[in-house]
Amino acid sequence: MSENPATPSNPDPDDLTAALSTHTDYGVEKLEEADAAADPVTQFRAWLAEAAEREVYEPNAMVVGTVDPDGAPSVRTVLLRGVDERGFEFYTDYTSRKGRALLATPGISAVFPWYSLHRQVILYGEARPVEQQTSDDYFANRPRGAQVAAWASDQSQPIDGREGLERKVREAEERFEGVETVPRPERWGGFRIVPHRVEFWQGRTSRLHDRLVYTRDASGEWALGRLQP
Ligand SMILES: Cc1cc2nc3c(=O)[nH]c(=O)nc-3n(C[C@H](O)[C@H](O)[C@H](O)COP(=O)(O)O)c2cc1C
Repeated sequence: MSENPATPSNPDPDDLTAALSTHTDYGVEKLEEADAAADPVTQFRAWLAEAAEREVYEPNAMVVGTVDPDGAPSVRTVLLRGVDERGFEFYTDYTSRKGRALLATPGISAVFPWYSLHRQVILYGEARPVEQQTSDDYFANRPRGAQVAAWASDQSQPIDGREGLERKVREAEERFEGVETVPRPERWGGFRIVPHRVEFWQGRTSRLHDRLVYTRDASGEWALGRLQP
C-alpha cells in the first residue's frame, strides 16, 4: 500500500466526507404536463437527443435490472442501440447472466442516469429477443474486433486469468482468418424492452422534483400522471 499523503491525484479513501455529502440544488429546468409528449417514446427521443446535444457521457447507457431464476435481482449497464414505437433495443449474449434471466423471466427495469442534466428516465416492462434478422443486421455492422470478441467470450462465465481470454480471442481470429464476413454467433443478439410504464424525472430546486409517469392501459393507450418526489 502506498504511504503517500492525499493529493488531488491520490485522494484519501479514509476521508469520504466530500464524496458522501453532495447536496446539489438542481436548477431551473422543469418538466410539466403541458410540455410532455403524448407518448413516452416521443418524449424519450426528445430527451435522448438533448442528452447527446448537451454532451452527456454515453447518453445511450442504461442500467438494466433483471431477475435471476432463483429470484435474485441483478443489474448492469448496457447500451441502447435503437428506440421506436416497438420498444428499446440493446444487444448482448443470450447465455450471459442477464440473457438467461430474461429468457426465463422477461420482466425488466432500466434507468438512464443523466446526472449532469439532473434527469433520469426509468423503464418498466418486458424484454424479449428481437427478430433474428434484426440481430444479424446489427452484428454485421459491428467492427470486426467486436464480432470476433463475441465468438471468443462466453459472457459472464468464469475464466482462468486474462491469458485464457486472450487465447480464446486468438483461436477465434484463427477460425475466421480469410473469412470475409464473420457470422453472428447464435447465442448473441438483441433484446427489445417493451415498456408498460415510463417515468421521466427532472430534478428541481428544494427537492421538489418533477416525476411524470406514462402508464399503458389494456388498449395500448398511454395515460400521463405525476408522482410526488
Ligand atoms: C458503459 C457500458 C456499456 C456496456 N454495454 C453493454 C452492452 O451493450 N451489452 C452487454 O452485453 N454488455 C455491456 N456492458 C457490460 C455489462 O455491464 C456487463 O458487464 C455484461 O453484459 C455482463 O453482464 P451480466 O453478467 O449481468 O449478464 C457495458 C458496460 C458498460 C460500463
